[in-house]
Amino acid sequence: MNRIHIVSNRLPVNINIENDIIELIPSVGGLATGMRSVYKEYNGKWIGWPGLPSDDLDEELTGRIEQKLIEEDCVPVHLSKQEIDLYYDGFSNRTIWPLFHYFAQFIDYDHELWDAFVSVNQKFADKALETLEEGDTIWIHDYQLLLVPEMIKSKKPDVTVGFFLHIPFPSFEVFRILPWRKELIQGMLGADLIGFHTFDYQRHFCSSVRRLMGYEISFNQIHIEDRIILVDSFPMGIDYNKFRDASTQIFQRPLQEKSELHRELEKYFLISPNRKLILSIDRMDYSKGIPNRLRAFSRFLEDYPEFIGKVTLIMLAVPSRGTVEQYINLKREVDELVGTVNGKFGSINYTPVWYFYRSLPFENLIELYSSCDVALVTPVRDGMNLVAKEYVASRTNSTGVIILSEMAGVAKEMGEAIIINPNNTKEIADAINQALIMPLDEQRERMSFLQDRIKRYDVFKWSSEFVKSLKKVEKIQNSFYAKKINSKIMDKLTAKYKSAEKRSIFLDYDGTLAGFKTNPNDAKPNAELHEILYKLEEDPRNVITIISGRDRDSLEKWFEGHKINLIVEHGVWLRKYQKEWKMLSNASDVWKPNIRPTLETFVDQTPGSFIEEKNYSLVWHFRKAEPEQGELRANELRDELTTMIANHNLEILEGNKVIEVKSGGINKGIAAMQFLKNQNFDFILAIGDDWTDEYMFRELPESAHTIKVGLKNTAAKYKVESVASVRKLLLDLTK
Ligand code: ADP
Ligand code: G6P
Repeated sequence: MNRIHIVSNRLPVNINIENDIIELIPSVGGLATGMRSVYKEYNGKWIGWPGLPSDDLDEELTGRIEQKLIEEDCVPVHLSKQEIDLYYDGFSNRTIWPLFHYFAQFIDYDHELWDAFVSVNQKFADKALETLEEGDTIWIHDYQLLLVPEMIKSKKPDVTVGFFLHIPFPSFEVFRILPWRKELIQGMLGADLIGFHTFDYQRHFCSSVRRLMGYEISFNQIHIEDRIILVDSFPMGIDYNKFRDASTQIFQRPLQEKSELHRELEKYFLISPNRKLILSIDRMDYSKGIPNRLRAFSRFLEDYPEFIGKVTLIMLAVPSRGTVEQYINLKREVDELVGTVNGKFGSINYTPVWYFYRSLPFENLIELYSSCDVALVTPVRDGMNLVAKEYVASRTNSTGVIILSEMAGVAKEMGEAIIINPNNTKEIADAINQALIMPLDEQRERMSFLQDRIKRYDVFKWSSEFVKSLKKVEKIQNSFYAKKINSKIMDKLTAKYKSAEKRSIFLDYDGTLAGFKTNPNDAKPNAELHEILYKLEEDPRNVITIISGRDRDSLEKWFEGHKINLIVEHGVWLRKYQKEWKMLSNASDVWKPNIRPTLETFVDQTPGSFIEEKNYSLVWHFRKAEPEQGELRANELRDELTTMIANHNLEILEGNKVIEVKSGGINKGIAAMQFLKNQNFDFILAIGDDWTDEYMFRELPESAHTIKVGLKNTAAKYKVESVASVRKLLLDLTK
């Protein structure tokens, strides 16, 4: 793998221009802080918005900005005021952000915002496409750029594309609210690897893919028409050593080198050695639960008045998205609440809440992390929350307690924190008390576990795991493509076909000659298929056999008039052209009354599913059932049936949205071989899409040309993508 380029809405640095001097300021937020530590390792560029409107920049200034950014390996995507308004403040932060954080009441459904989102995503994709060179990989980040993966893939299918979502992916019931839900999923599916912080977000995403797109997902692989997409969870870490080392150094500095904040903090402890500090750090965002936190702190002072005058909450809120209405309202609410708490519990010598509404330099953050006894992290929803991890890393003496919301992704990794529900004011108040009185031994024990874990899975490990998976998915794709029929293989196949004197052609029906329909009876051959088969039949050297799991009736009816043999029920019956039906095996149906009631129970419990009865098999179809429930029940049914059929000559077949129980000792492989017995074919072709066709691929002689429809693993020699490609292949052979 050569270079990896990063694409995100915001660059790791923002441009600030004062008196014509260009200043680079580090961006805040988990994405920027995390990726900043790793992106140089991949020798690529970071493509993103430099944080200011392009309207006021003349050519000369733009050139200077670009030059300055290039020194940091950054490539700017310039956005006008209008684009910032509609795409960034608009669809990204007034539509997707509230939706993905379960604030449905804040969502703005506006087509104008959507249109801007599409066109700005295209702008990012174009810039990325411009930057890409042969062999480069691309790693796209976060909710502002959900459409970019597909925009890149559609132009450059050979580029490996990774996508990581830094915020939660909501449950389908919430995601479906959005009018453009399908477009967003399609956009994401342009990636080869899609990463989330937690398994829950991954699960929610897969559920939306299944329900909205109907794609099959096995384990963590999504099978779409011509690709496999890997989905996985990678909990983002921090640059642990950077925080630990900075924290160690800060305390070793001589007094004159200490920051003003540090000196103030030391003075404070000198005057009141028994005072305790609680720390709260976030961007000013309604997802962070800042008002809840203030209410809980107020409740704590009410319920535990012995702490009044002894505990201070340092509340740091970085200004964020300040032109969006909900953020303006939140700022007002927080200002008022701080005033209320300070007014209620404060005195001349005591200010319960120290409130800072600004960004602070790294050094000050470290001073706060290492000086505060408790970190209070109470988001109502948070994709990960790196602040909690930064606090842990900065505690060089392993003391300190974290109170953590169960709604933050990070809670999954921090069982040793005091976990609270951010809507439970009383619980948080009690947790503050518990944290403040926690014995040092217990603090150290909990903190050491946390430190070990967060140190091990740091941001370098996180990104290297993601990149490792990108390589893995490249391999998976390549092994799929290796078997794909290309023009060279097709030429060879055609040459063998042309020179053969007697050809046997086995064709599966559903999923091979015709696409799946919700109702199996609707899948009858159309005019195009009849035409192709007639063409094949014209050649007297061709012996064509449709080999299917279906029962006798429909196939007999559908292929009346064709010079075709039929093998049905997975090989139980054979009807040679113009002959009678003949049984190929000693199948039995005496077992049916024992199995049918179980299947009937599953039909009752799974709306939309039904039973199909064949002579020697029973089939439970769940294509019409609600997809997730169908898959779930299929797993249960498979489990139950496996126990039931033990010691009986029965088999379970799993087809496409069907589970079939059938008499044992029969399969398409055995049937095809029986059919071939005593005949001299010098060309055998077999095409099928399903698990049941794998028997045929395995049993047929080595010289047979076996072809799988779809991308799944197979014993067949070759693969084609779809029913349309099968039809084209057959037609090409007749030319
Ligand atoms: P989000 O990504 O939603 O903002 P995170 O907790 O994951 O939340 O990340 C916030 C990042 O921003 C952290 O790396 C933190 O150090 C940084 N940060 C938060 N507040 C400040 C601040 N006042 N000044 C500077 N950096 C801050
Ligand atoms: C969150 C998002 C990031 C975003 C950051 C800061 O961490 O996941 O994509 O960059 O917040 O928000 P802003 O809107 O200022 O970029």
